[in-house]
Amino acid sequence: MLKQTAYGKTAKVLHWLIAALLAVQFPIGWLMPDIRRGMAPGNAMKLHIVIGLVILTFIVLRVVWRRFHPVAPADALPPWQRLTSASVHWLLYGLVFATALSGWFFASFRGWQLSLSSGVLLPVLTAPGSAAGRMVGGWHQAAGWGLLFAIGVHVIAAITHAFIFRDRVVQRMLAE
Ligand code: HEM
Ligand code: HEM
Repeated sequence: MLKQTAYGKTAKVLHWLIAALLAVQFPIGWLMPDIRRGMAPGNAMKLHIVIGLVILTFIVLRVVWRRFHPVAPADALPPWQRLTSASVHWLLYGLVFATALSGWFFASFRGWQLSLSSGVLLPVLTAPGSAAGRMVGGWHQAAGWGLLFAIGVHVIAAITHAFIFRDRVVQRMLAE
């Protein structure tokens, strides 16, 4: 498929929406009350789950959109930067997906049935209390820290492009 030379509006809107949602999702995750056995999700946890499911939906949409609207790397990038940026971008997609999905496993492990506001029930990913649920749900915290680290690398790279290389890479993701 012919690659476009610039990100379109949809790619940019999804990129910044996901970034903004993650910026509120992490603090909610850290600040919400700890879970105890048999406890039902409180308001903060319900909000965390809703935002997490929206992030999961957007990241899947973003990857599907990317498949049909591929964008070529910036001309200014030497081969090593093309390779490292593509690797970090795939790591970001993978870690957002893994963090959200492991959170869903955690919720299923706790026996929480998730539903949409329309009342449609979402699949239960594992039986309550199952060993698999404990294991995959247990990855949620580690996946979150891994994601935060990858975001840090990504943002440092963006700052380096803007203020040290002084090229137009960051402009590619901003409104024209
Ligand atoms: C990419 C999206 C998500 C991010 C960045 C995220 C981040 C976090 C963070 C930082 C914590 C606190 C971990 C700690 O105790 O240090 C947490 C806890 C939790 N999250 Fe998420 N989360 C996401 C999506 C989800 C989703 C989709 C669900 C459920 C459907 C979920 C369910 C939970 C649960 C049940 C906990 C409590 C786990 C515990 O107490 O150990 N999360 N999350
Ligand atoms: C202040 C925060 C951020 C800045 C300044 C920023 C900047 C950028 C820029 C300039 C690009 C385009 C790079 C290129 O031309 O190839 C990009 C792409 C990307 N960003 Fe960010 N970003 C930020 C936050 C995030 C966050 C939180 C995520 C987490 C998911 C993320 C995920 C991605 C991904 C996956 C791509 C690759 C897009 C693609 O080609 O498929 N970014 N970002």
